[in-house]
Amino acid sequence: MSRGGGRGHTRVKTARSRSAQSTRWLERQLNDPYVKRAKAEGYRSRAAYKLTELDEKFGFLRGAKRIVDLGIAPGGWTQVVRRRLPKAAVVGIDLLPVDPIDGATIFQMDFMDDAAPDRLIEALGGAPDLILSDMAANTVGHPQTDALRTMGLVEAALDFAIHTLEPGGAFVGKVFAGGADSALVAEMKRNFTTVKHAKPPASRKGSVEWFVVAQGFKGRAADKPE
Ligand SMILES: C[S@@+](CC[C@H](N)C(=O)[O-])C[C@H]1O[C@@H](n2cnc3c(N)ncnc32)[C@H](O)[C@@H]1O
Repeated sequence: MSRGGGRGHTRVKTARSRSAQSTRWLERQLNDPYVKRAKAEGYRSRAAYKLTELDEKFGFLRGAKRIVDLGIAPGGWTQVVRRRLPKAAVVGIDLLPVDPIDGATIFQMDFMDDAAPDRLIEALGGAPDLILSDMAANTVGHPQTDALRTMGLVEAALDFAIHTLEPGGAFVGKVFAGGADSALVAEMKRNFTTVKHAKPPASRKGSVEWFVVAQGFKGRAADKPE
Protein backbone atom coordinates (compact mmCIF):
# COMPACT_ATOMS: atom_id res chain seq x y z
CA MET A 1 0.00 0.00 0.00
CA SER A 2 1.33 3.49 -0.68
CA ARG A 3 0.25 7.04 -0.25
CA GLY A 4 -0.01 8.64 -3.66
CA GLY A 5 -1.86 11.42 -5.39
CA GLY A 6 -0.75 14.01 -2.83
CA ARG A 7 -4.12 14.44 -1.06
CA GLY A 8 -3.99 11.53 1.34
CA HIS A 9 -5.36 9.15 -1.26
CA THR A 10 -4.28 5.61 -0.49
CA ARG A 11 -3.23 3.49 -3.44
CA VAL A 12 -3.11 -0.26 -3.29
CA LYS A 13 -0.61 -2.24 -5.36
CA THR A 14 -2.10 -5.18 -7.15
CA ALA A 15 -0.73 -8.26 -5.44
CA ARG A 16 -0.45 -11.33 -7.62
CA SER A 17 -2.90 -13.11 -5.36
CA ARG A 18 -5.42 -10.27 -5.49
CA SER A 19 -7.59 -9.64 -8.53
CA ALA A 20 -7.81 -6.18 -10.08
CA GLN A 21 -11.45 -6.09 -8.99
CA SER A 22 -10.72 -6.72 -5.32
CA THR A 23 -7.82 -4.25 -5.45
CA ARG A 24 -10.26 -1.59 -6.73
CA TRP A 25 -12.70 -2.50 -3.93
CA LEU A 26 -9.97 -2.25 -1.29
CA GLU A 27 -8.74 1.08 -2.65
CA ARG A 28 -12.30 2.45 -2.63
CA GLN A 29 -12.88 1.24 0.94
CA LEU A 30 -9.66 2.83 2.17
CA ASN A 31 -10.51 6.20 0.64
CA ASP A 32 -14.23 6.25 1.39
CA PRO A 33 -15.18 9.01 3.87
CA TYR A 34 -18.25 7.03 4.98
CA VAL A 35 -16.07 4.02 5.84
CA LYS A 36 -13.84 6.30 7.94
CA ARG A 37 -16.84 7.91 9.60
CA ALA A 38 -18.43 4.52 10.36
CA LYS A 39 -15.24 3.41 12.06
CA ALA A 40 -15.01 6.63 14.10
CA GLU A 41 -18.68 6.52 15.14
CA GLY A 42 -18.76 2.80 15.93
CA TYR A 43 -21.00 1.65 13.09
CA ARG A 44 -20.39 -1.78 11.65
CA SER A 45 -21.06 -0.67 8.08
CA ARG A 46 -21.13 2.45 5.94
CA ALA A 47 -24.69 1.37 5.09
CA ALA A 48 -25.68 2.97 8.42
CA TYR A 49 -25.45 6.37 6.70
CA LYS A 50 -27.82 5.33 3.90
CA LEU A 51 -30.53 4.67 6.47
CA THR A 52 -29.67 7.86 8.39
CA GLU A 53 -29.89 9.96 5.23
CA LEU A 54 -33.11 8.28 4.08
CA ASP A 55 -34.63 8.96 7.48
CA GLU A 56 -33.49 12.60 7.41
CA LYS A 57 -35.43 12.95 4.18
CA PHE A 58 -38.55 10.89 4.98
CA GLY A 59 -38.74 10.65 8.80
CA PHE A 60 -39.98 7.05 8.94
CA LEU A 61 -38.09 6.28 12.19
CA ARG A 62 -39.99 8.87 14.20
CA GLY A 63 -42.35 7.10 16.61
CA ALA A 64 -41.65 3.58 15.29
CA LYS A 65 -42.11 0.95 18.03
CA ARG A 66 -41.69 -2.43 16.31
CA ILE A 67 -39.14 -2.71 13.54
CA VAL A 68 -38.01 -5.53 11.27
CA ASP A 69 -34.58 -5.36 9.57
CA LEU A 70 -34.35 -7.77 6.62
CA GLY A 71 -30.76 -8.45 5.52
CA ILE A 72 -29.41 -7.11 8.82
CA ALA A 73 -25.73 -8.17 8.53
CA PRO A 74 -23.37 -6.80 9.69
CA GLY A 75 -25.84 -4.61 11.59
CA GLY A 76 -25.37 -0.93 10.70
CA TRP A 77 -29.07 -0.22 10.09
CA THR A 78 -30.12 -1.84 13.37
CA GLN A 79 -27.43 0.11 15.21
CA VAL A 80 -28.94 3.33 13.81
CA VAL A 81 -32.43 2.20 14.85
CA ARG A 82 -31.29 1.26 18.36
CA ARG A 83 -29.48 4.59 18.85
CA ARG A 84 -32.46 6.59 17.63
CA LEU A 85 -35.17 4.45 19.26
CA PRO A 86 -33.75 2.77 22.37
CA LYS A 87 -37.18 1.59 23.51
CA ALA A 88 -38.30 0.07 20.21
CA ALA A 89 -38.41 -3.69 19.61
CA VAL A 90 -36.09 -4.70 16.75
CA VAL A 91 -35.90 -8.05 15.00
CA GLY A 92 -33.50 -8.83 12.16
CA ILE A 93 -32.70 -11.71 9.85
CA ASP A 94 -29.76 -12.59 7.60
CA LEU A 95 -28.19 -15.58 5.90
CA LEU A 96 -24.93 -14.52 7.53
CA PRO A 97 -24.07 -14.62 11.23
CA VAL A 98 -24.32 -11.27 13.00
CA ASP A 99 -22.59 -10.31 16.26
CA PRO A 100 -25.22 -9.56 18.91
CA ILE A 101 -26.68 -6.06 19.06
CA ASP A 102 -28.02 -4.99 22.43
CA GLY A 103 -31.83 -4.93 22.38
CA ALA A 104 -32.24 -6.67 19.00
CA THR A 105 -33.30 -10.25 18.27
CA ILE A 106 -31.38 -11.65 15.32
CA PHE A 107 -32.09 -14.79 13.30
CA GLN A 108 -29.52 -16.41 11.05
CA MET A 109 -31.93 -17.74 8.48
CA ASP A 110 -33.05 -17.35 4.87
CA PHE A 111 -35.89 -14.81 4.71
CA MET A 112 -37.27 -16.82 1.77
CA ASP A 113 -37.79 -19.81 4.10
CA ASP A 114 -41.56 -20.28 4.63
CA ALA A 115 -41.05 -20.26 8.41
CA ALA A 116 -39.23 -16.91 8.49
CA PRO A 117 -42.19 -14.46 8.57
CA ASP A 118 -43.84 -16.16 11.58
CA ARG A 119 -40.53 -16.36 13.44
CA LEU A 120 -39.98 -12.63 12.96
CA ILE A 121 -43.47 -11.57 14.05
CA GLU A 122 -43.43 -13.90 17.03
CA ALA A 123 -40.10 -12.47 18.22
CA LEU A 124 -41.37 -8.93 17.68
CA GLY A 125 -44.40 -9.54 19.88
CA GLY A 126 -46.88 -7.81 17.59
CA ALA A 127 -47.41 -6.22 14.19
CA PRO A 128 -44.45 -4.17 12.93
CA ASP A 129 -44.89 -0.48 12.15
CA LEU A 130 -41.65 -0.27 10.13
CA ILE A 131 -40.10 -2.88 7.83
CA LEU A 132 -36.64 -2.23 6.41
CA SER A 133 -35.09 -4.34 3.67
CA ASP A 134 -31.50 -3.80 2.58
CA MET A 135 -31.35 -7.38 1.26
CA ALA A 136 -29.25 -7.87 -1.83
CA ALA A 137 -28.46 -11.11 -3.60
CA ASN A 138 -24.82 -11.95 -4.19
CA THR A 139 -24.01 -10.37 -7.54
CA VAL A 140 -22.94 -12.55 -10.43
CA GLY A 141 -21.74 -9.64 -12.58
CA HIS A 142 -24.57 -9.86 -15.11
CA PRO A 143 -26.56 -6.63 -14.50
CA GLN A 144 -30.02 -7.94 -15.51
CA THR A 145 -29.63 -11.16 -13.50
CA ASP A 146 -28.36 -9.23 -10.47
CA ALA A 147 -31.25 -6.77 -10.69
CA LEU A 148 -33.84 -9.54 -11.00
CA ARG A 149 -32.45 -11.54 -8.08
CA THR A 150 -32.49 -8.52 -5.79
CA MET A 151 -35.97 -7.57 -7.08
CA GLY A 152 -37.16 -11.03 -6.01
CA LEU A 153 -35.99 -10.27 -2.47
CA VAL A 154 -37.62 -6.85 -2.27
CA GLU A 155 -40.86 -8.26 -3.71
CA ALA A 156 -40.91 -10.88 -0.94
CA ALA A 157 -40.16 -8.15 1.61
CA LEU A 158 -43.03 -6.01 0.30
CA ASP A 159 -45.38 -8.99 0.39
CA PHE A 160 -44.37 -9.57 4.02
CA ALA A 161 -44.99 -5.88 4.75
CA ILE A 162 -48.47 -5.93 3.19
CA HIS A 163 -49.39 -9.01 5.23
CA THR A 164 -48.03 -7.84 8.58
CA LEU A 165 -47.69 -4.02 8.89
CA GLU A 166 -49.88 -2.00 11.19
CA PRO A 167 -52.06 0.55 9.39
CA GLY A 168 -50.03 3.75 9.00
CA GLY A 169 -46.78 1.76 8.94
CA ALA A 170 -43.85 2.18 6.56
CA PHE A 171 -41.68 0.05 4.29
CA VAL A 172 -38.17 0.86 3.03
CA GLY A 173 -36.62 -1.47 0.44
CA LYS A 174 -33.50 -1.65 -1.68
CA VAL A 175 -34.06 -2.00 -5.42
CA PHE A 176 -31.68 -2.12 -8.36
CA ALA A 177 -32.28 0.29 -11.22
CA GLY A 178 -32.95 -1.70 -14.36
CA GLY A 179 -34.98 -4.31 -12.50
CA ALA A 180 -38.63 -4.88 -13.40
CA ASP A 181 -39.79 -2.49 -10.72
CA SER A 182 -42.88 -0.82 -12.22
CA ALA A 183 -45.15 -3.63 -10.94
CA LEU A 184 -43.55 -3.30 -7.53
CA VAL A 185 -44.16 0.44 -7.42
CA ALA A 186 -47.78 -0.08 -8.55
CA GLU A 187 -48.29 -2.59 -5.76
CA MET A 188 -46.82 -0.13 -3.28
CA LYS A 189 -49.06 2.67 -4.50
CA ARG A 190 -52.13 0.47 -4.00
CA ASN A 191 -51.12 -0.15 -0.40
CA PHE A 192 -49.42 3.03 0.82
CA THR A 193 -50.43 6.68 0.68
CA THR A 194 -46.96 7.88 -0.41
CA VAL A 195 -44.28 6.04 -2.40
CA LYS A 196 -40.93 7.67 -3.20
CA HIS A 197 -37.66 6.60 -4.82
CA ALA A 198 -34.41 7.90 -3.40
CA LYS A 199 -30.68 7.45 -3.75
CA PRO A 200 -29.08 8.77 -0.54
CA PRO A 201 -25.67 10.46 -0.88
CA ALA A 202 -24.03 7.52 0.96
CA SER A 203 -25.14 5.16 -1.84
CA ARG A 204 -22.19 4.97 -4.21
CA LYS A 205 -22.77 6.89 -7.43
CA GLY A 206 -21.52 4.05 -9.58
CA SER A 207 -23.90 1.53 -8.00
CA VAL A 208 -27.32 0.73 -9.46
CA GLU A 209 -28.78 0.64 -5.96
CA TRP A 210 -31.83 2.78 -5.14
CA PHE A 211 -34.33 2.73 -2.31
CA VAL A 212 -38.11 2.84 -2.31
CA VAL A 213 -39.80 4.42 0.68
CA ALA A 214 -43.49 3.68 1.16
CA GLN A 215 -45.33 5.39 4.02
CA GLY A 216 -48.86 5.39 5.36
CA PHE A 217 -49.84 1.72 5.00
CA LYS A 218 -53.53 1.66 4.16
CA GLY A 219 -54.24 -1.64 5.95
CA ARG A 220 -55.09 -5.11 4.70
CA ALA A 221 -58.49 -4.20 3.24
CA ALA A 222 -56.80 -1.85 0.74
CA ASP A 223 -55.30 -4.73 -1.21
CA LYS A 224 -58.57 -6.59 -1.74
CA PRO A 225 -60.50 -6.01 -4.96
CA GLU A 226 -63.88 -4.27 -4.51
C1 LIG B 1 -26.12 -4.76 1.93
S1 LIG B 1 -26.17 -6.03 3.11
C2 LIG B 1 -27.06 -5.31 4.46
C3 LIG B 1 -26.31 -4.26 5.23
C4 LIG B 1 -27.05 -3.83 6.49
N1 LIG B 1 -28.25 -3.07 6.16
C5 LIG B 1 -26.19 -3.01 7.40
O1 LIG B 1 -26.52 -1.84 7.63
O2 LIG B 1 -25.20 -3.51 7.92
C6 LIG B 1 -27.32 -7.15 2.41
C7 LIG B 1 -27.57 -8.39 3.24
O3 LIG B 1 -28.69 -9.12 2.70
C8 LIG B 1 -28.52 -10.47 3.08
N2 LIG B 1 -29.43 -11.34 2.34
C9 LIG B 1 -29.44 -11.61 1.02
N3 LIG B 1 -30.38 -12.53 0.74
C10 LIG B 1 -30.99 -12.85 1.92
C11 LIG B 1 -32.03 -13.76 2.27
N4 LIG B 1 -32.64 -14.52 1.35
N5 LIG B 1 -32.40 -13.86 3.57
C12 LIG B 1 -31.76 -13.10 4.52
N6 LIG B 1 -30.76 -12.21 4.22
C13 LIG B 1 -30.38 -12.10 2.95
C14 LIG B 1 -27.05 -10.70 2.75
O4 LIG B 1 -26.56 -11.83 3.42
C15 LIG B 1 -26.42 -9.39 3.22
O5 LIG B 1 -25.87 -9.51 4.51
